[in-house]
Parts: sequence; structure tokens; C-alpha cells
Amino acid sequence: MTHELYLKSVDINKHDIPHSDYIYDLPIVKNFSKINFEFPITIFVGENGLGKSTLIEAIATKYGFNAEGGSRNFNFHTRRTESDLNEYTKLIRGPYMPRDGYFFRSESMYNVASNIDDLGISDAYGGKSLHNQSHGESFLSIFFKRFFGNGLYILDEPEAALSPVSQMSLLIRINELVKKNSQFIIATHSPILLACPNAQILEITESGIIEKSYQDTEHFRVMENFFKDPKATVSRLLETNSDL
Ligand SMILES: Nc1ncnc2c1ncn2[C@@H]1O[C@H](COP(=O)(O)OP(=O)(O)O)[C@@H](O)[C@H]1O
Ligand SMILES: [Mg+2]
Repeated sequence: MTHELYLKSVDINKHDIPHSDYIYDLPIVKNFSKINFEFPITIFVGENGLGKSTLIEAIATKYGFNAEGGSRNFNFHTRRTESDLNEYTKLIRGPYMPRDGYFFRSESMYNVASNIDDLGISDAYGGKSLHNQSHGESFLSIFFKRFFGNGLYILDEPEAALSPVSQMSLLIRINELVKKNSQFIIATHSPILLACPNAQILEITESGIIEKSYQDTEHFRVMENFFKDPKATVSRLLETNSDL
């Protein structure tokens, strides 16, 4: 650890959440205990539907970011889909304010790109409308041209549009920005991003949040087994599901 973190911890007042609200039953909420951010990079990993995006969104909106993503200056709303989890979320901030910040969520990037065009601020993103770039190129423009360091960056599945080589570029970029006093909170399925140095990996499971080393994550093991013998894995999968 080389610099002070902007976000020190997150906690949830589980007991105040109405039992009728779906967030009450989310595995990530049910088994939540306070997370202390101890590294410049925190990575949430785990199966679909366990609540990673819901948690990351609650952290981001509690911090002051727009629910659909962007910098703290964005306040457009295409559709209200965010949960109420931020009302029950407690953040402890570090002593310094970040000079940059971004809530990047791959699923609503289209709306962010439109908003950037509407505001006429594409210069901050390299000068070309994100809509006139490939999906992956537009992601890279944000990470390489818009992010400038000394920042708090909250990223939800930033790998979604990126090729494996571009994911490696993103790993390099994250590392570069960490050296420029940045903090990242990331939800990802990418075994490449999971390998970021200086990262605390938190695996979300049905029974709780478990701190893991890279090679012990379920994602790493599944991919490792697959690549050991793709043909055999596919045959086994198809046999097991031959009735489908
Ligand atoms: N408005 C909603 N009403 C009921 N359930 C919802 C709503 N929005 C999301 N969910 C549920 O919350 C769960 C967690 O979603 P999400 O946080 O996106 O998971 P993850 O990012 O871990 O894949 C999902 O199973 C989803 O069905
Ligand atoms: Mg998600």
C-alpha cells in the first residue's frame, strides 16, 4: 500500500431493510459483514445474480455518483432501476478527496455515451463520440483518455466488451492509475483482471463473502480446468445435459 485510500470501508445496516424488499434476500446482503478496503484495488467476483452489481451501485450512489454511471457531474436518468440498498449503506471515507472519479457500468454505457454527446464533452474522452467507436474501443477511450489518476473508480464488468488482449491493456492501465494514487472497486468475471497485483479479491458466495487468493477463486479454477482440456470439458457438459 502506497497511498491513502479514498474509501476505507463499507457496511450495511441489514436490520433496517424491510423484509418485503428483494434486496433483503440477496445473498450478498444476507451474509454481509463490514468490508474494510485494505488495498488500492478491491475485486468482487462470484456467480451471476448474487448481488455484486447491486452492492457496487449502492456504494457508488452513496458516494454521490449517478446510478446509471459516469463522473460525479452526471445526473441523467433514463429509467429508475437502482435498488434502495444505498439507504442502508454506510461508507467510511479516507482523509483525502479524490480529484477524479467515475462509476463505470458496462450495462448502461450506451446511455452514458449519449449523455456525453448531449453535453458536448467528448473532448474529455479523446474527441470522438463514443457511439462512433466499437463497443470495446469506447470502453478503452474511457479508461485511457477520461481517467486521469488520483481517482476513485468503481467499475462493474469493465471487461464486458473487451478482447483478452484489451483486458490485458486494462490491467496495465489500472496498475498505472494505482501508481497515480487511485483506488478501484471492481466487479468482474475476467480471470485476467482478477490477476491485478495489489488487489483484495472478495468472492461472493451463497453463504457469504470470502477473501480469496487469485488461484483459489472459483472463476480461476473453472477456466483452468476448461483450458486444460476444452474438448473433454465440452463433451462432458453436453453429455450431462443431453436431455436439454
Ligand atoms: N427490481 C428488482 N426486483 C426484484 N429483483 C431484482 C430487481 N433488480 C434485480 N433483482 C435481482 O437481484 C439479483 C442480483 O442482481 P445483481 O446485483 O445484478 O447480480 P450480479 O451483479 O451479482 O450478477 C438478481 O437475481 C436479480 O434478479
Ligand atoms: Mg452484475
